[in-house]
Amino acid sequence: MTALDEDVTADQAFARARAEAAAGPLDDSFARRFDEEFPRLHGLFRRLYAQREDEREALADVVALAAASWHARSLELRALDSIREADPAWFESQRMLGGVCYVDRYAGGLTGIREQIPYFQELGLTYLHLMPLFESPEGNSDGGYAVSSYRRVDPSLGTMAELAELSADLRLAGISLVVDFIFNHTSNEHEWARRAVAGDPEFEDFYLIFPDRRMPDAYEQTVREIFPDDHPGAFVQLEDGRWIWATFHHFQWDLNYANPAVFRAMAGEMLFLANQGVEVLRMDAVAFIWKRLGTACESLPEAHLLLQGFNAVLRMGAPSVLFKSEAIVHPDEVIQYISPDECRLSYNPLQMALTWEALATRDGRMLQLALDERHALPEGTAWVDYVRGHDDIGWTFSDEDSARLGIDGHAHRRFLNDFYVGRVEGTFARGVPFQENPKTGDARVTGTTASLAGIEAGDAGGEDRVVLAHALAMSTGGIPLLYLGDEVAQLNDYTYADDPASAGDSRWVHRPKRPVEAYDERTDAATPAGRVFTRLTRLIAARRGTAEFAGNELIPFHTPIPSLVAFQRPGRDPLAERILVLANVADEPVHIDPLTLSGFARDAVDIVDGRRRDLDDGVSLPAHGFAWLRVTPLW
Ligand code: GLC
Repeated sequence: MTALDEDVTADQAFARARAEAAAGPLDDSFARRFDEEFPRLHGLFRRLYAQREDEREALADVVALAAASWHARSLELRALDSIREADPAWFESQRMLGGVCYVDRYAGGLTGIREQIPYFQELGLTYLHLMPLFESPEGNSDGGYAVSSYRRVDPSLGTMAELAELSADLRLAGISLVVDFIFNHTSNEHEWARRAVAGDPEFEDFYLIFPDRRMPDAYEQTVREIFPDDHPGAFVQLEDGRWIWATFHHFQWDLNYANPAVFRAMAGEMLFLANQGVEVLRMDAVAFIWKRLGTACESLPEAHLLLQGFNAVLRMGAPSVLFKSEAIVHPDEVIQYISPDECRLSYNPLQMALTWEALATRDGRMLQLALDERHALPEGTAWVDYVRGHDDIGWTFSDEDSARLGIDGHAHRRFLNDFYVGRVEGTFARGVPFQENPKTGDARVTGTTASLAGIEAGDAGGEDRVVLAHALAMSTGGIPLLYLGDEVAQLNDYTYADDPASAGDSRWVHRPKRPVEAYDERTDAATPAGRVFTRLTRLIAARRGTAEFAGNELIPFHTPIPSLVAFQRPGRDPLAERILVLANVADEPVHIDPLTLSGFARDAVDIVDGRRRDLDDGVSLPAHGFAWLRVTPLW
């Protein structure tokens, strides 16, 4: 045994004793997972906290929390743990379909969400992300992303007991509950924050507080401004004159993860949520959780170690729960968060942004390049493919990628922003600028799918673009995620500007209330809501019935047509039939000639309308049209 091994063994015995003191004798199931995970967690703690005296204690406490949490975990959730263990690829199924909504705006409260379950089933949802629903400051709380208590639901929405019941009802309906784990920061009203401000040293060390501008100035040499409309830089001043780190709004204070007590505290909150029946935790703002002077303080190696640490704790205490990464950063960084040891799921911000890029330019090459080279994932992980989320659209593509196509990234981002906020002549989009930064020229775009795609402007291609964007999100591989309301072509809501709590944040333009009328019209083909809904639900049905859409494998397919995005989804047997996806982002029809398709047998079937196609005739696609074809490769 090396000295290190001896260390692990001694620390493991110490942690086990602490766990038994907290939770009683360990059952076999926990003991097995503890033995599997402890050495990893130990190694992570060593790397993160070696210089801290309280490292060993904190580690033992974390294990004790996991043991106590497992002990308290309901039989129903333990049964779910076993089911998931037997079928670890459950989330890769083609039956998966996500929806996301604000509890208050969509349904008034948790009771209202429960009343929507029949509709969620009609739509085919298997995953429901409820936007932040925790206690948070009155007025502006960044849509709940400023959490004052992780254990209390915002009383205007319901209670934690109701959330737990809702999770069980959703599960019965085949829907996994997803909630945010907002662990980079708390609100300034969280008890930890109040105590820190009051000068309690234990809690001062939970945040990054500096007596004067010396350190903030030094950090700000290299960190980005995230919400420059709210405050410049990354710090805000406390009433007593000190400065505190606040990456986002002035009321969202970043936690100090260099302090193991913060890890321990947040691990406790995480396990608590897992035991309410949450099946996926959306790991908010993952890129920002570790800071180091002289760096951008984004995506540092320690951010990954922390996620791996939380992952190990979760595997001990609530093994079926998954993490979804919210890293809306450069694609080289996004991918680093995705692995079975970190986040099994991740938003796919590149595909999202490049779908809009392709629609604006009528050129599919950047999206095609991303699908060819940046789509592959480690085994046992999946993308969450969305057309738009509750946040702005940021153009997070790589400048190196665009340069390969002769496109200057900086100028292109400017064009895209101008295009989507209506500053380019002839644009079909009705978006609103978000966080325009005159110092850097940065800006982002907000708007609902229907408004960005041209329906609001009355553009003839608007409905087709909405459907096309969803057809891509539903076919590239991963869990497609609908922003609820988009499936009935909901438009921007400009009334956000009348409410002081939201006026300063244009993302509210695309977070409207549930569009009751549009939902009532969803079967009426004379309305945009009816037409879009019918076309999208047909796609959902076709996807569900197509086993090749499971998993993430994608084989590029190249044609000489720049407006065409094309790829194949091979399914389990690469020699058997596969799905060929063809998507035309142009305003004109295109024809794919028979020679380009000559690698396939001539008989193909359109899996959306069931019609046969003879590939010897080539394939014609209308403007903004697409096809999902079942084809048989000839070799
Ligand atoms: C994430 C959320 C965003 C929020 C931010 C701060 O990026 O998606 O809405 O403003 O985190 O919590």
